[in-house]
Amino acid sequence: MPTPTAHVSAAAGDFAEAVLLPGDPLRAQHIAENHLENARQVTAVRNMLGFTGSYKGLPVSVMGTGMGIPSVSIYSHELITEYGVKKLVRVGSCGAVATNVALREVILATGACTDSRVNRRRYAGHDFAAVADFGLLRAAARAAEAQGVPLKAGLVHSADLFYEPLPDPFEPMKRMGVLAVEMECAGLYGLAAEHGVRAMALLTVSDQLVTGERTSSEERQSTFDAMVHVALEALVLDAG
Ligand code: HPA
Repeated sequence: MPTPTAHVSAAAGDFAEAVLLPGDPLRAQHIAENHLENARQVTAVRNMLGFTGSYKGLPVSVMGTGMGIPSVSIYSHELITEYGVKKLVRVGSCGAVATNVALREVILATGACTDSRVNRRRYAGHDFAAVADFGLLRAAARAAEAQGVPLKAGLVHSADLFYEPLPDPFEPMKRMGVLAVEMECAGLYGLAAEHGVRAMALLTVSDQLVTGERTSSEERQSTFDAMVHVALEALVLDAG
């Protein structure tokens, strides 16, 4: 597939090796405008905005992924195979299903369980362990500690359905020590393994699904910015 690709209008070389991946394309624009230097827009197909700039001298791109495993997989696949992206860092939100995870906390998704079949498709029908890259995890843990941002590291569940029709969908997660539910990590980690590249996800807790608490939009923004700062500092540590 040459560049531009089916879903990305950037030219070859327009993306940095390291890309931050928020779900919302306007969050990608916010990161480009507030966290990167000399950022320029490189793609806007379907309004899925992507930008490339730098952070402390390190080339970094940021692009929206949309919601769910199919959407994140399409964009990430094209970034990896046609634009040479090697480090993919999801910066998203999640709903906590563990009682010891508080609203606004940042979760480092060490691995992702899922009800999606995508990784079984990749792994001859067997159960693939979709895990984050250890070097990126270590860098994120160090960056969070240096900035005084409390982190909880553990498993998330990547769900295909946001609106679950069955009763008590979180029971197996709670019983097995899964911290939170979101909709992309298992796809991203499986895809990274398939292509021999590195991936990690940082997620802020936007909803506490056990207590029913939710963050306000201002709280979401400030927690999100602290998390993006951790992700960028992690990329600097990892590159150094
Ligand atoms: N479910 C799935 N994904 C999410 C949620 C949720 O409740 N909250 C934030 N991302």
